[in-house]
Amino acid sequence: MKNALPFVIILLLFNACNQPQQSERDVFVSELISNMTLAEKIGQMSQINITEIIQDSIVEDYANVTHYVIDTAKLEKYLGEFHIGSFLNGRSVSAENWHYVTSTIQSINQKYSDVPIIYGIDHVHGASYLKPGTIFPHNINVASTFDTRHAFNTGNVAAYESADLGHKWIFAPVLGLGVAKWWGRYYETFGEDPYLISQMGLATIAGIQDDATTAPHKTAACAKHFLGYSDPKSGWDRAPALIPDQTLREFFLPPFRDAIDAGVKTIMLNSGEINGIPVHASYEILTTLLRDEMGFEGFTVTDWLDIIALEKMHYVAENEKEATYMAIQAGVDMSMIPTSPSFCILLKELVEEGRISEARIDESVRRILNVKYDIGLFDIPIVENPRFERVGTEENIQKAKQAADESMVLIKNNNNLLPLSKSSKVLLAGPNAKNKIALCGGWTYRFAPQKERWFPEDMPTVHDALESVFGDSYAFANYDQLAVRARNSDVIVLALGETRAYAETQGTIDDLTIDKEQTELFKAAKATGKPVVVLLIEGRPRLIPDIVDEADAILFAGLPGIYGAESIAEVLAGDINPSGKMSFSYPYKHGHIIPYNYKQAEFSELREVSDALKRHTIAPFGYGLSYTTYEYSDLKADATEIGVTQKLIASVTVKNTGDRVGKESVLWFISDEYGTITRPVKELRHFEKIELEPGQSKTVTFEVIPAEDLSYPDKHGKEYLEPGDFRISVGDQEIKFKLN
Ligand code: BGC
Repeated sequence: MKNALPFVIILLLFNACNQPQQSERDVFVSELISNMTLAEKIGQMSQINITEIIQDSIVEDYANVTHYVIDTAKLEKYLGEFHIGSFLNGRSVSAENWHYVTSTIQSINQKYSDVPIIYGIDHVHGASYLKPGTIFPHNINVASTFDTRHAFNTGNVAAYESADLGHKWIFAPVLGLGVAKWWGRYYETFGEDPYLISQMGLATIAGIQDDATTAPHKTAACAKHFLGYSDPKSGWDRAPALIPDQTLREFFLPPFRDAIDAGVKTIMLNSGEINGIPVHASYEILTTLLRDEMGFEGFTVTDWLDIIALEKMHYVAENEKEATYMAIQAGVDMSMIPTSPSFCILLKELVEEGRISEARIDESVRRILNVKYDIGLFDIPIVENPRFERVGTEENIQKAKQAADESMVLIKNNNNLLPLSKSSKVLLAGPNAKNKIALCGGWTYRFAPQKERWFPEDMPTVHDALESVFGDSYAFANYDQLAVRARNSDVIVLALGETRAYAETQGTIDDLTIDKEQTELFKAAKATGKPVVVLLIEGRPRLIPDIVDEADAILFAGLPGIYGAESIAEVLAGDINPSGKMSFSYPYKHGHIIPYNYKQAEFSELREVSDALKRHTIAPFGYGLSYTTYEYSDLKADATEIGVTQKLIASVTVKNTGDRVGKESVLWFISDEYGTITRPVKELRHFEKIELEPGQSKTVTFEVIPAEDLSYPDKHGKEYLEPGDFRISVGDQEIKFKLN
């Protein structure tokens, strides 16, 4: 055999060259896992809420918590006995207090484990659980800016302000398709168009995961809630969804696919069921689709209580142990348990009984440790010298204010009533005139803040902001004073919409129409004979069928956040030229709520309905007025026919024909004239926001890539790229081309 040695060496070398290269991370994580006990591994898959590790007296009065004190005995139990790898959440407390919380957890954890804790938090519109974190508008507004810079800033400022406090995992962005307009989480979505959601989602993720911003720390984003959460059939939170596979793939899935391709590190799952299967128990969704097909390599976290929900909400499991079995076998990596160690105990039993393999556990633990490694937690588990001065800087505030400014959508402006001259006598009324809560909505300082005292004292209400812009010519009236005070005013502004903040189930309603009292207030205002401007401050489109035609002007302000009232006042006074466009179609009445990208058969020539019935929206997706005017001209393409591997470049010239500088979002739509699977009437495929001086023109372009812009999936995910006629529309321009 002595002559065999050179051969063995060659073989070893050959094998070594053909082994997939192990990265430093792989070696590090493998080594760790090989030294972990089963209980330690399961602990990494477990996430516990902060209420479990703080002093009892604080928990007892949790609605009023302003400062956390850790109960170290409780914490030691979770860390020593259950080796918990993640904690979550809280309410807004000071930066110093947050730093104390996360450092205490990490340092006590070091007694028991070499693996640092990952702390997750709902900083969903800026650092919203931090006092005084910078609060941005909610996503529904950010989307209406049609400028991804604002989505980037929303995530980026949240990470900038909170990474030093030990918040290395932000539960954002929401990537749900905003189609159920009565849903209590509508405002958390980026509206109803998959492409807009993708672009805004990608920018938010880039903002959160921008290591340069948080260096030397790093933060992970969390795309949520995978998949289909945003379309509960009844409109109530977490109610069952019925979504055909083809629809799921064509409209709900792309924002998640894009987020994965862009490297989002974690994904939170949908608490609900789709087509009879709870997502948390679906191998098809969590493994076949998410892992095998979409190639997601980060880790998934359940939503709140959702393994337990398989037993207690969906009734697919007889008990929590079976629920745990189902969820883990389906592909869940981490359980947001979140208020007991039950998951740790049951999962351990399942492995010890041989029902779940340790290899399956290792798979999830590896994904979790990989993320912990990637965000540098092993290098810097505890933040020394935290930069508290990063919180609420003037620069951050300006970014939030700009996002609010550009999110205002002017829906109606009869006879150019707006902007108002600063000397006009403005009378303000309405339930949102002096309401801070209504401007910010849920997930602001608290889950669903109901008390003004949680908000900064110097936060302007609409009343404050109008008073400061219009000075002596401004007045306020309550309902009883309205008629009398109106006599001495030029215009009435009504601050209407939703008057309280809500989140999740608390946002459940049984009628989308605006409160009767508000319609009555509007009628009383109209009866004065003065022009009436309606402000819609709300997280979803409350229907205003008895207001829309009579109002002289309507401004959709959505949930613009802490600085939103100033944006509103500046728009009314003309200091800001509104540039927002609807990120969803605002429904007219209950009867026919459809998105802008409806199918042809909604309004078929063969079954003609009256124009009155056709009126389903008061402001379609992409609609928004300005104080200047824009003219679109000269739409052309560099070809009239292209092959499937060719590109087509279209261009259009946009001119500011008014007398004010303005920002115009140029929205490019494509319509596919015929399809094997029925096609939407049009679909957004590209957008760009440009600024134009009066008289200035700019030519903008759109590159059509057939595989991306003209194809669509069937229910199995097979892409169809069908030859035929297509239309490109932008502004009032339209051209056709053929795909060969
Ligand atoms: C929500 C999530 C949130 C989580 C943690 C859940 O109830 O659905 O969006 O991130 O709680 O607070």
